[in-house]
Amino acid sequence: MADVAALAARLRAAGCVFAEEEAELLLAAGRDGELDALVERRVAGEPLEYVVGHAVFRGLRIEVGPGVFVPRGRSEFLVARALDGVRARGAVTLLDLCCGSGALGLALRTALGPRATLHAADLDPGALRWARRNLAPVGAHVYEGDLYAPLPPALRGRVDVLTANVPYVPSEEVRLLPAEARAHEPLLALDGGADGLDLVRRVAREATAWLAPNGRLLIESGDRQAPEVAAIFTTAGLQAETTHEEEQGATVVTGQRPVNQ
Ligand SMILES: C[S@@+](CC[C@H](N)C(=O)[O-])C[C@H]1O[C@@H](n2cnc3c(N)ncnc32)[C@H](O)[C@@H]1O
Repeated sequence: MADVAALAARLRAAGCVFAEEEAELLLAAGRDGELDALVERRVAGEPLEYVVGHAVFRGLRIEVGPGVFVPRGRSEFLVARALDGVRARGAVTLLDLCCGSGALGLALRTALGPRATLHAADLDPGALRWARRNLAPVGAHVYEGDLYAPLPPALRGRVDVLTANVPYVPSEEVRLLPAEARAHEPLLALDGGADGLDLVRRVAREATAWLAPNGRLLIESGDRQAPEVAAIFTTAGLQAETTHEEEQGATVVTGQRPVNQ
């Protein structure tokens, strides 16, 4: 089945919306007689990125597969917002909590170059296998554990940019997610607790202890949740600002640590 049109027709019949693009990607990935097996997996509903073994995020190839959250295009806005506020010169310390595959941290570190030092952490050892692979080329420090718990104490008060794309789907709404996510991505990567904001609260509560003066915390949220996220940031002592990007439907709340805190 090496023909794009025939493969696209089969994918379309299975419900794939971008059938032509997917056919091209599967054909490129399916070398050495593997194509049929890859197509079977896709037709059975596995995320395309798992099947071809990578996602593209801000033009970077991010290796992914079963056991890790697939980086979403809308999170590119979070990276853009994080870069907006970085000084033009000088060393920058980056911390990516809930790093999953490492996509956000890798995009920031790639944009800033070697003046940036990247620290990345996640609770899920399955996700960290992918993060270590993706982040090794930039010499990132990768930690396993609950939020800030595994970080070296020497990092306290030194983080310039703290990104945290935490799970933010309310528990009751996980069942409403597309089957690709619900059936294949780890629940730990999706379920944000009763109102979706459990992890936002926990990240924000400790943020001022880890941020440098003027350092910023950036979290993606649902549009509806953003006012509550901003209020959580304010309670945690951060100066909150919410921005929205229409095309991808992305909302990011930024919280800056005031100099005198
Ligand atoms: C929505 S995914 C985001 C992954 C990645 N940042 C991205 O945007 O592609 C959320 C991640 O949070 C991690 N996570 C959930 N609870 C955590 C906790 N208590 N401490 C650290 N990581 C956690 C999950 O394992 C998952 O990798």
